[in-house]
Amino acid sequence: MVFKKEYASVYDSLYQSKDYKKECDFLEKIFKKQGKNIKTILDLGCGTGGHAFILAKRGYKVTGIDRSEDMLKTARANANKAGFKIDYRRSSIQDLKLNKKFDVVIAMFAVMGYQADNDDLALACKNVKEHLKRGGIFIFDAWNGPAVLTDPPVQVVKDLKSGDKRIIRFTRPEVDLIAHVVDVNFKVLVLKNDKIISETEEIHKMRFLFPQEMKYFLQVAGFTGIQFLPFLKPDKKLSANDWNMTVIAK
Ligand SMILES: C[S@@+](CC[C@H](N)C(=O)[O-])C[C@H]1O[C@@H](n2cnc3c(N)ncnc32)[C@H](O)[C@@H]1O
Repeated sequence: MVFKKEYASVYDSLYQSKDYKKECDFLEKIFKKQGKNIKTILDLGCGTGGHAFILAKRGYKVTGIDRSEDMLKTARANANKAGFKIDYRRSSIQDLKLNKKFDVVIAMFAVMGYQADNDDLALACKNVKEHLKRGGIFIFDAWNGPAVLTDPPVQVVKDLKSGDKRIIRFTRPEVDLIAHVVDVNFKVLVLKNDKIISETEEIHKMRFLFPQEMKYFLQVAGFTGIQFLPFLKPDKKLSANDWNMTVIAK
């Protein structure tokens, strides 16, 4: 398991500069381009609800699914504080059975990359299809295989302030070219008054996805009209240098 209590508790601080509003604008541009009247959205791997919260605020009926109860705790607290009704439920994507269909399914911030082996990825695609209305759209972002090969991930340190705490995250990636997986080794320290008050480590197994293999997984699950774009660029074509790709399937 990843996104356990200690990591989940610093998640929003670690990504405080991630522009969720801009990402939701991008999603809405895609909705518009598809010419659909979107009302219901299923957010898979919703985490702390960065997208779900903004989309609910913009009037969509959102259901959020995540397998990490600790991430969902923050998501629920944020929604309650703002008085929004968001249906957050704990489930893995592979076990998902809501008996309900949606206009759109999203899986944002490399959620599909967490489905690192073929069986999990195939089952995720099948379950998404089963939760979409006829003509519904699946939108997700992922690491683009060709770009990961030419520009592999490197060690980085993130050092930031959050209230009276300092959070330091060390990231050490180990690339497995045969498995198409990067083991992202995270070590997170939380300091208060220069003293370490918590320390945690997690290894996130992240699959980088190649457009043609992804297309095949989606086609096998019954999707058509599959498109690849560079992340946040709805009018551009994906190139081999774009690290982050957006995939749209119907
Ligand atoms: C990088 S976080 C993204 C969270 C959120 N979408 C965002 O943009 O901030 C990935 C999330 O996907 C969830 N996740 C990954 N694989 C999952 C699976 N198979 N079933 C349910 N949740 C999953 C994790 O628990 C985590 O909360």
